[in-house]
Amino acid sequence: MVDTENFTLRQILSNDDTTKLSLGNEAYTPLKIFLKKSAFDFHQYEIAKTYVLINQTSSSSRVWGYITLMSSEIVLNEGQRPQESSATSRYEAFPAVKIARLAIDKALQGNGFGTRFLDWCINHVRLAIMPHVGCRFIVVDAKRDSVAFYEKSGFVLLDTESNRTDDHPLMFFDLYKSNIL
Ligand SMILES: CC(C)(COP(=O)(O)OP(=O)(O)OC[C@H]1O[C@@H](n2cnc3c(N)ncnc32)[C@H](O)[C@@H]1OP(=O)(O)O)[C@@H](O)C(=O)NCCC(=O)NCCS
Repeated sequence: MVDTENFTLRQILSNDDTTKLSLGNEAYTPLKIFLKKSAFDFHQYEIAKTYVLINQTSSSSRVWGYITLMSSEIVLNEGQRPQESSATSRYEAFPAVKIARLAIDKALQGNGFGTRFLDWCINHVRLAIMPHVGCRFIVVDAKRDSVAFYEKSGFVLLDTESNRTDDHPLMFFDLYKSNIL
């Protein structure tokens, strides 16, 4: 049984132990390599910000999971565009924050950490970005296996023929609608 209260999410540091993340499937190797080789550089050079899951009761700074965020945009077809006014519905592209990477160590999966990461991301964008810079959506190129996981948190698939059959379908979360409902 994992005590989830022992874990905290914070920005990546240069001396974090990024080498031990285990995802249990070769298909996820790129997620491990990114964390090990690129995440801190992307973070410090303002390309994408990485937040890591750390066990606060341990003296080591072994990373047990991470989420990487960057700015982005999403192009929506007419049926999925914001319809609040003609000012919003006449655009095709909308500002967004992208979840560029998300992974939870195999040993911790199924304990709600992934959902907590998504909730944290939504709140973080609401508090830190939306009051200052226009941002309507959170987007993710989901892995086909994780579509159901994102749907549980309110993400929806971009409704195009090619996206429905893509190995990494684009999904989005509407920050405005979810805030007023
Ligand atoms: C996908 C991932 C982030 C989910 O993290 P997690 O901590 O295991 O997720 P949670 O415990 O919060 O699960 C929340 C719900 O989603 C479901 N879920 C989790 N992973 C799922 C998956 N791959 N497919 C379908 N449902 C999934 C859980 O069963 C749970 O459902 P419940 O609320 O009915 O019990 C994690 O499994 C992971 O890192 N996978 C490998 C890398 C990956 O796929 N990353 C996403 C890239 S886009």
